[in-house]
Formats: sequence, structure tokens, C-alpha cells
Amino acid sequence: MKRSREEVEKDDRPLSMRSPLPQLDFTALAHSDDAFKKAYDDRTITVDGGKMVLNLTKVDEMFNLSLTRAILKQYFNINYFDMPPSHLVPPVPNRHSYILWIDELLKTFPTLKPRTTVVRGLDIGTGASCIYPLLGRRAYGWEFLASDVDEESVESAKRILGNNGMEEMVEVVRVDGGEVDLVGAALRASKKGSQQLPHFVMTNPPFYANSGDAESARADGRDRTTFTSSESVTDGGEVGFVKRIVDASVDLYREKIGLYTAMLSKRASMNEIIAYLKEKNVGANCIRSTEFCHGKVTRFGLCWNYVDCVYMLKGGGEEELCGGELKERVVGFLKENQKGGEKVKENGEEEDGGISYFVEDAWNMQIEVEEGTVTVALTKFTDPKVKGHFKNFCKRMSGEVFRTNRKWRRKYNNERFS
Ligand SMILES: C[S@@+](CC[C@H](N)C(=O)[O-])C[C@H]1O[C@@H](n2cnc3c(N)ncnc32)[C@H](O)[C@@H]1O
Repeated sequence: MKRSREEVEKDDRPLSMRSPLPQLDFTALAHSDDAFKKAYDDRTITVDGGKMVLNLTKVDEMFNLSLTRAILKQYFNINYFDMPPSHLVPPVPNRHSYILWIDELLKTFPTLKPRTTVVRGLDIGTGASCIYPLLGRRAYGWEFLASDVDEESVESAKRILGNNGMEEMVEVVRVDGGEVDLVGAALRASKKGSQQLPHFVMTNPPFYANSGDAESARADGRDRTTFTSSESVTDGGEVGFVKRIVDASVDLYREKIGLYTAMLSKRASMNEIIAYLKEKNVGANCIRSTEFCHGKVTRFGLCWNYVDCVYMLKGGGEEELCGGELKERVVGFLKENQKGGEKVKENGEEEDGGISYFVEDAWNMQIEVEEGTVTVALTKFTDPKVKGHFKNFCKRMSGEVFRTNRKWRRKYNNERFS
């Protein structure tokens, strides 16, 4: 769905929501939030020199909840936040970093214009906090489909959204934990059905493969973060969970979804999934990774996609080709170049002004025209020969498309009157 110019212009979300959070200052936060002040005061100790510091051994679920609540209120204008007991209370800074990273990735994505399109995300395993839709909605106005297997979490997520007036833009669905296709499970449970594919998928999966690992003591002696079994344990641990998303992306959705992403707890998990992606022929330049470091905790962001070669044809210049004519020429060139086994066909999908063409069975091109810029994105990437062919093809296309107007005028007039 396209956003109107007025909608874009009146986008008054504060920039601070789209910038990394400042270093947390508990004392300052306690000054501005009474509930957090109480939780903080109860857990501080005086150290040498009379300075009050947080006693880490006393950091518990109640403290985490009041901290998360205070940050959401202060920085994101989220005025209601509560969670059922024993559920994972999300630390906001690393969840926010993940959202900022997705925005960075969306901005570099060739066939999506995040400023003029309503971006839709799928959050697999949204939890009782619904933290990603809360942050993504507040900071960027994204729409979400959010799934979870846990009934209590689904109810809690809906309550939080409802109390913050966000229930229209975020749909929360309960899915069956036995479903292998985690993306399809959410789409099938959605009221919008499988028709509306998301632009990106995100997940913070359960970490562990069994309850023994989940319950083992922390090396530093601190209490474990509270979480339920569905929040902490899944078949194959976080690697198994994300591999299931990889399988669905390779076998079912490929480039129909722009970006697939996950947040992982260990570098080793990320490396294992990267190796798996390569086994599935996802090219190295279609895989990106990053780290989210906050205090002593580091998490790992992983992203993969199915758009590799991207070719940009710019309108304007000498001939001042307007977008519409440029597009006609590109389409004309593609049609003219159908030969042998090559097929060029409009597949009828006309979302966000984009039209997909299939050139040969192996190729999928998306063409989008906006203000005189034509973006051609090739989405079959695994075969290096195809890449070479694509580059030559685009060079030829560019040459043809910018030839003198006379040839094209004659051509299109002929076509129009025939
Ligand atoms: C680590 S928690 C993440 C919660 C929240 N997104 C966060 O970042 O704090 C993992 C979540 O995945 C959910 N989950 C487990 N298996 C799932 C599945 N097959 N499909 C969807 N969600 C699932 C759990 O119930 C839990 O809420």
C-alpha cells in the first residue's frame, strides 16, 4: 500500500525513536518515574565513597519489568505496559537496536521505498511483551503481523496493543507449535490470509534445545531471567528454529518476502545458520550480519534475502524521459527480447507500482518506476553465468532504452495504431 504525500509529510514521529538509545542512567530514570524509583531504591547498595549502585544479585523480574516500563514510557510514549508473571521481560536497548538495523536494511533494499510505502513486518514469536511491534510501530509506523504459540502471551500482547491504541495496525495470531513452516503458520492464521506477504520477517527465537540447558545456572551467579518453557525451549534450539525459517524461505517464499532476519544469542549459532544458508545456495552477498552490544550482553543479527543483482536505470538526462515512457521502453525491450526459451510476462502483481517480469524461467525481474528512476532487480542469483548474462543484458537494455527518441516514437506509434 502506498502512503500519500500528505501522510509522508505529516510523519511527525520523533527522530529520537529512530536513533540509538542513550546510555541508560538509572538515577536519572528514577527521578522521572516513581514506580521505577521504588524498584531501584529497593535494590541499591552503598559502595566505597558513599555512591549508590544497583545490587546486581537483587535484579529480578519485578525490577526488569519496572525498568522496561519506564524506558518504554520515557522514550517511546508507550503508556501501558504490563506482562503476565514468569514471562520474559525484554530489555529494550537490544530490541530497539534490532529494529534500527532492519530499518537500515530496508533503506538499502532496491525495490522498496520505506518512506513512501507502508512497511509490513512479520514478528515470529512476539512474546507476551509484543516488543518489536511496539517499537517498530512507534519509531517507523510499520504494520505488523505477530505470532506466538502461547495463549497467555497472545492475550497479553493484544492487551498491550489495545491499551496503547495500536490494535488496528498490529495483528496478533496464535499458531500451532507443531507447524514446520513458521511463516505460513502466521499467514494462515491472519485475518488478511496469505495474500498480504510481509516486507520483512523478524524473530528472537527460543534459545535452548532442552529444559536442562535453559535451567542451568549462570556463570556469574546471577539469577536466570524468568521465562516460560515455550519462550526458552524449541526443537533444535535457536539454530533449529531459524533453520526452519530458512527452509520456508528457500522452498516457499524466496524473493516474495524482501528480508528474512533473526536475532541470535551466540556467534556460533549465527555461523551455523550462515553455513546452512550457503548449503542452500544463498549467495554470500545476500547474507548480512551484525552485533548488538549493550552492557555485557551481545546479540547477533542475521539477515538474508533473494535479490542479488540490482540494476538501476535512471531517467532524465538529455532526453528527459519521464517515468512512464521509460517504463514503456523497458517493457518494450524486454518483450522484444523474448526468444528461444525466454519468456517475458507481466504477472499481474501490481503492488507499489512494481511489476514483475519473468525473463527465462530462471529469472525474475521486478521493475519499479518512480519519479523517472527505473529499478530493475534480478532475483535469481545462484548461478554466476546468469549474473554475467544479466549484466550484459542490462547494458544492452540501457543502450537501447536511451537511443534517440525517433526510433521509439515510431515504434510505439506503430504499436498503438496497429
Ligand atoms: C525468546 S522469546 C521472544 C519474545 C519477544 N519477541 C522478545 O524478543 O522478547 C521466543 C518466543 O517465541 C514463541 N514461540 C515458540 N515457538 C514458536 C513457534 N513455533 N511459532 C511462533 N512463536 C513461537 C515463544 O512462545 C516466545 O514467546
